[in-house]
Amino acid sequence: MKDFIAGLPKCELHLHIEGTLEPELKFELARRNGLELPYASAEEMRAAYAFDDLPSFLKIYYEGMQVLRTEPDFYDLAMGYLRRAAEQNVRYAEIFFDPQAHTSRGVPFDVVIRGLRRALMDAEARLGVRAQLIMCFLRDFQAEYAMATLLESLPYREWIAGVGLDSDEKGNPPAKFAAVYERARQEGYLLTMHCDVDQDNAVEHIRQAIEDIGVDRIDHGVNILEDQRLVETVLARGIGLTCCPISNGHVTDSMKAEGIRKLMDLGVRVTVNSDDPAYFAAYVQENLEALQNALQLTRQELAQLERNAFEITWLPRHRKDAYLAEINAYVS
Ligand code: HPA
Ligand code: ZN
Repeated sequence: MKDFIAGLPKCELHLHIEGTLEPELKFELARRNGLELPYASAEEMRAAYAFDDLPSFLKIYYEGMQVLRTEPDFYDLAMGYLRRAAEQNVRYAEIFFDPQAHTSRGVPFDVVIRGLRRALMDAEARLGVRAQLIMCFLRDFQAEYAMATLLESLPYREWIAGVGLDSDEKGNPPAKFAAVYERARQEGYLLTMHCDVDQDNAVEHIRQAIEDIGVDRIDHGVNILEDQRLVETVLARGIGLTCCPISNGHVTDSMKAEGIRKLMDLGVRVTVNSDDPAYFAAYVQENLEALQNALQLTRQELAQLERNAFEITWLPRHRKDAYLAEINAYVS
C-alpha cells in the first residue's frame, strides 16, 4: 500500500507554505540574515516542538517564520517544499501563504509574493509540478487589516487563485470577515476558509462559511458531521473539504479518521492533505499512509481521495481531466 500511495498521482490543497519551513532551512536562513536561534541544532529545535492545541501550535509556527526576510528566502522556502512534493509525486498543489505574518513584522508584501511566485514558475518548468497560491488572512487580526491586505494584493491578482482564512479561530468567526470576502469575490478570487477541528462553535462557523459567506471550499471542516442539513448542502453544492489527519492528531485528540471515513461514505468530496508538514513531521504521502492504516482503505478508496482533490481544485476543466486521466491510467 505504501508503494501504491507513492506512485499515485497526488494533489495537495491544504498546505501552509510557512508550515513547510524545516529546521535545517531555518538555520540556513538565520545564518544568511545574521540572526541567532535559541537552539544548538535542528534536532534540538524539533525536540522543542510541543503543541496539543491550535494556539500552542500557532505560537511555534509564527516564531519559526521570523527568519524569512528577503525575496530569496521565500523562494527557497517554496522551492524546498515543491522539491519534496515532486519526490512524493504531488502533481499539483494549491499553496496557502500568510502575508500578514510577514507585513506585520516589516517584510513587504511584494517581497513575499515575488519570491513565492518565482519558485512556482521554476518548479513547473524544472520539476513538472504545477502550483497556485491562496492568500490567507489572519483571523485573529482586525478585519480592517485583512481588507487592506486584500487591496494590497490586487496588483498581483493574476498570481493568486483565491483567498483563505487561518490562525486562531476562537472568537474569530467567519462573519467577522463577511465584507472582506464579499470584496474578494467581486475581485474574482475563489473563496475558502479554515473551519478548524473541534473549535468552539465549530458547527455555527461552518454554517456561516457555507450559508452566509458562500465559500467554494472548506479547510478541515469535519465537524460538519454534527449537522445533517449542512452535510446535505455540501453534497448538493459539491463543496470539498481539505482534511489533514496527522495535523488533527497534533491539535485535537485524534486524526479524526472515523469522521473522514463517514464523509467518504456519504459521498462528500473529502481530501487528504498535510497542513504544516515541517511541524507535524508528515507530508501528504505520510498522511495518506496513516489514514490507510487507520481505516484499511482500499486502492480504489485511495484513488477516490485523489480524484476528489483534483475535482475540487481551482483549475479549468481540461486540466482537471488531464490529472484524472493520470489517476485512471495508474489504477488500471
Ligand atoms: N489552522 C489555523 N491556522 C493555521 C493552520 C491551521 O491548520 N496552519 C497554519 N496556520
Ligand atoms: Zn491549515
